[in-house]
Amino acid sequence: MDSSLPTPSIPSKINLLKGHPNDLMLPEEPMKEAFKILSGQSLSPSSPSPSNLPTYLNYGDERGNASFLPILASFIEDSTKADVSDSNGCSPDTLFVTQGISHSLEILCRILKPSSVMLESPSYFLAASIFLSNGVTICSPPPMDVVNGGIDLDELERMLEKSLVPVPSAIYIIPTNNNPTGMTYSSSRREKLVRLASTYGITVIADEVYHLLDWREGAPRPGRMVSIAGAEPSLTISLNSFTKIFSPGLRLGWIECKHQPLLSKIENLGYIRSQGGVAPLNAELMRIVLTNDLFSPHLASVKSALKLRLDMILEKVASCPNITVPYPPTGGYFLWLKLLNVTGDEAAVVRALEDSQGVIVLAGSSCCQPSAPPLDGIFVRICFACLDTGLLMEGIDRICDFFS
Ligand SMILES: Cc1ncc(COP(=O)(O)O)c(C=O)c1O
Repeated sequence: MDSSLPTPSIPSKINLLKGHPNDLMLPEEPMKEAFKILSGQSLSPSSPSPSNLPTYLNYGDERGNASFLPILASFIEDSTKADVSDSNGCSPDTLFVTQGISHSLEILCRILKPSSVMLESPSYFLAASIFLSNGVTICSPPPMDVVNGGIDLDELERMLEKSLVPVPSAIYIIPTNNNPTGMTYSSSRREKLVRLASTYGITVIADEVYHLLDWREGAPRPGRMVSIAGAEPSLTISLNSFTKIFSPGLRLGWIECKHQPLLSKIENLGYIRSQGGVAPLNAELMRIVLTNDLFSPHLASVKSALKLRLDMILEKVASCPNITVPYPPTGGYFLWLKLLNVTGDEAAVVRALEDSQGVIVLAGSSCCQPSAPPLDGIFVRICFACLDTGLLMEGIDRICDFFS
């Protein structure tokens, strides 16, 4: 080897576990522009007068800035107008601005006071802890639908009909580009879930954080859960956030629900009334971003970067006979790999991968509910959003070598 050539520095560990966006995917330039507009240093079509900054340095409106809610509603409607649903409309009065999905879940625990919630297994590994820290019992879900991913709804129906499981107060799902599996519930499964929930009076909490981070081609995307016709006595609530489609540091998200009493209860929470809305300044920044064409070009570039990474990984993994991808995602951050012909249990496999290849992945079972039926094999989750592409692909090469 020519010692004059610089050797690329590969850290000893390649962390494919961390679910954060790469720095290059963060909206540095759009935010700089938004700060300029906010501070009156740059005029814009949406803010033709020098600055209305004092308004947003003051207390805000309980449900979210009156100037932001209609912009947010139009954004949701425009971004989902091609989805499959009876009506993808979104009205500002169905929205409540929060600091993101995690905060929305915390608020829902306070308001709904569910005694029990059923989660998919596997599910977002930090969601259960939000419910548990609010004293909510996690119910044992039926087995996973191995073919489609997510909850086996036929089995859930059978178990509810025969009273084989207690009726949970709520079901929490990640219906689009699921974390960790990458699966998306079809329209018919969404409808079935809403029907079942309605029959048994179960609240559906849909964490749609990856709904808009989606680059599917061909068949249109199923509608957000709140747009699927639901009726009393059940409640369907869609949660979303700018975390994955713009910036986690902004801490800005929303609850969407057609049930006004629920939104009024949130609005009347003591701390919301006391602090006057959740994030007036950040919401104003986001309003500026959305109304000055600073959002769409950024999201388009993030999606194309993520798609490129995912396509490269899928191509590489397709040549590894011992790795399969049960639910190839069409968006999101994560890929769920099934490992075949491995010796040892999951913990041993994950440890060996780290010890011998320096590659850190999330063990499949750490996304599972302790009371759920075990997974039908050994699975790991990798994040394709965090590392630089070179390092990411080096990690994938090492995984493929290790399991070949
Ligand atoms: C499924 C899912 N829900 C929620 C979150 C956290 O969302 P937020 O940052 O809006 O609280 C994540 C982050 O990884 C996630 O994957």
